[in-house]
Amino acid sequence: MRIFNFSAGPAVLPEEVLRTAAAEMLDWHGSGMSVMEMSHRGKEFIAIAEQAEADLRALLAIPANYKVLFLQGGAIGENAIVPMNLVHGFTVADYVNTGEWSKKSLKEAKKYVNVNVAASAEDRAFSYVPERATWQLTPGAAYVHICSNETIGGVEYHWTPDTGDVPLVADMSSQILSRPVDVAKYGVIYGGAQKNIGPAGLTIVVVRDDLLDRALPITPSAFHWKEQAAADSMLNTPPTYAIYIAGLVFRWLLAQGGVAAIEQRNIAKAKLLYDCLDASGFYRARCGARTARG
Ligand SMILES: Cc1ncc(COP(=O)(O)O)c(C=O)c1O
Repeated sequence: MRIFNFSAGPAVLPEEVLRTAAAEMLDWHGSGMSVMEMSHRGKEFIAIAEQAEADLRALLAIPANYKVLFLQGGAIGENAIVPMNLVHGFTVADYVNTGEWSKKSLKEAKKYVNVNVAASAEDRAFSYVPERATWQLTPGAAYVHICSNETIGGVEYHWTPDTGDVPLVADMSSQILSRPVDVAKYGVIYGGAQKNIGPAGLTIVVVRDDLLDRALPITPSAFHWKEQAAADSMLNTPPTYAIYIAGLVFRWLLAQGGVAAIEQRNIAKAKLLYDCLDASGFYRARCGARTARG
């Protein structure tokens, strides 16, 4: 019997992906090695990483002027890595506070830059996304940071904020690949892999290439987007097995019809759950969460 874990941290993966990984565990495509045993610079693993990137680009229709990085450190690591890479020459970064994950992001960013909380949903127990018209943005800010789905509070953006010339940065850890996204409206999209993509240990960063010249000199090389982009994310040893599994998930998503088809499936799943909650007479969905999922 398989158990579907939907709780915090790592979560359920497609069974086909796990079966493929099991079948290829001892010998990947006749190489005589497990993917775990391969050199990250060998032709076999480079082919795996290149295919994974190409498939992710296809799934999200990532424009050519965006780099895709396969890093480590998780989304909490990115909370520091984002400001380190984006604030050189700037004094303020704007953050929208919609709950637990936004709070963690802005607390970490304060170590590197002045943080302006441009909008907050704290007044109503983090149950909604503040309307764009209420945001107090800083002219000339380094970036505007949002968490596109607050995994704990269940508050999700169903729209993309317009931040003008200031790049929009989104923690999409628990939303990425659940639906189509217009990548061109973002400066940076990042997320830990363990929710929607694959095993923990892999962090995905999608960054517009004109933003690669804003890193603080203290930025560690392993987390320096420009250096990692120049090294095809192999400046250090990447999380090879996690990239391989992520690649299998990308293939699986493409075979399902891509993220537009997955979105329809997700809407149907959410309806099952919310209809059940609404009918229970015992549970009450928070209004933000209810409207977020329609
Ligand atoms: C939206 C969001 N941001 C950040 C994190 C933390 O990610 P990590 O544990 O990979 O650092 C999570 C984890 O669930 C998350 O859901």
